Amino acid sequence: MEILHVSAECYPMAKAGGLADVVGALPKYQCQIGHVAKVVMPMHRTRFLYQQEWEVVHQGAIYPAGQFTAYTIIKEKSNLLGFDLYCVDINGLLDREKIYGYDDDALRFICFQYAVVDWLSQWQHQPDVVHVHDYHAGLVPFFMRHTYPYQQLSGIKTVLSIHNAQYQGWMDWGKANLFPDWDKWKAGLLEWVDQINPLAAAIKCADRVNTVSPTYMNELVNEANGLEKLFQYERGKCTGILNGVDFKVWDPATDTLIYRNFDSDSVDEGKQMNKQKLCRDFGFNDQMPLFVFIGRLVEEKAADLLPYAINRAFEQYGHRFNFLVLGNGEGQVEQQLSAIEGRWFGFYHTRFEFNEKLSHQMYAGADFLLMPSRVEPCGLNQLYALRYGTIPIVRRTGGLNDTVVDVGDRDGFGICFNNATVDDMVYSIGRALQLYSQQEKVNTLRKKMMSINHSWEKSAQDYIDLYHSIYR
Ligand code: GLC
Repeated sequence: MEILHVSAECYPMAKAGGLADVVGALPKYQCQIGHVAKVVMPMHRTRFLYQQEWEVVHQGAIYPAGQFTAYTIIKEKSNLLGFDLYCVDINGLLDREKIYGYDDDALRFICFQYAVVDWLSQWQHQPDVVHVHDYHAGLVPFFMRHTYPYQQLSGIKTVLSIHNAQYQGWMDWGKANLFPDWDKWKAGLLEWVDQINPLAAAIKCADRVNTVSPTYMNELVNEANGLEKLFQYERGKCTGILNGVDFKVWDPATDTLIYRNFDSDSVDEGKQMNKQKLCRDFGFNDQMPLFVFIGRLVEEKAADLLPYAINRAFEQYGHRFNFLVLGNGEGQVEQQLSAIEGRWFGFYHTRFEFNEKLSHQMYAGADFLLMPSRVEPCGLNQLYALRYGTIPIVRRTGGLNDTVVDVGDRDGFGICFNNATVDDMVYSIGRALQLYSQQEKVNTLRKKMMSINHSWEKSAQDYIDLYHSIYR
């Protein structure tokens, strides 16, 4: 099959979160099992994108609100990622340093999608499926089906993957002027509660919708940031497909970003060496268990509870562990996290940044990874942790529920709790401390976790099966 993925992010070219990891891996595995998968994304001004060599494959123009806007489609020359990568280049509009967060984001992403559809309409040979990711690409199915200039695309099948339904791309009706000339009878397909809602539009217009874990799909029917009714109504075309891990990037045996490589046979020693180095870097005592949190410091990840939980855990259990936080996000959370640093000096540290290299070193060197998420569509960090023999401590939600089994249960290996509360987090840290005192058991768990196979091969095939269910 021939598949075109449309996404705002793609690892390592431009990454803000897990979406990039998925779009950087899934197409590669689809190609490996004999399909032709390509990715198109905006040409952001990131170091990685600017380092590559590109060839121009198409030049065209779009007319948002009647304004002539030139765009160029460029293709990465060396097949570096294992699939064809295309970028939409629009001077001044898309080539910015950040992926999101500008006042004109609505305009930027409308133009990106408009240009993708315009380019696609000129392909000699159309793809079998256009696979769009999250709301930034959510208008594509509507543009392909209900705009006058692109009528010829209306027969191509479309799939929407939802990596996060919290963000929906809401915009006022004035923005509809920027769209390619569209069938006004179809306004209802764009609308959700008096606004244009690109995520809702994609759920309505795509042939199939999937979320990145089965549990998250079930949760959305009851809690979807306002879209519950829509998910209930469209349930029939929705499924959940668990994300995989790109073993070429995430393998402690070959990872060049970590201090010492190891596999499941050498995990005890390997972890110890990586832990010693990490502890040295942060002034921690490496004889104590090391807990880490890696991720965006936002409410969705329950990062607002971290300062309270960390404080309380130290008060309750004493100076018996180390805690390292990596991530950035909401100002208030960052402030509170740094406010407690003085109090637990030598035992607790935070790094407010997005740092891919340090994150690898933390998976390799930590004993426990805490993920108290309120919402977690799939969660990749717990999968990386498993791969590196780090015990995940997770709230039972979304993909965390589908991938972590509590040590108290049959075949278990992790620590699970039910509520995103300080009490549950502190209690779970206590369970972890107790577990850590049984080193034999910890060693067995590490080996067990590392043998779990969450590679992309299976999920890549699940997506192909999903396409086949709509494509004949
Ligand atoms: C988003 C979700 C995360 C998921 C990732 C990739 O970042 O928050 O749970 O794993 O997308 O699908």
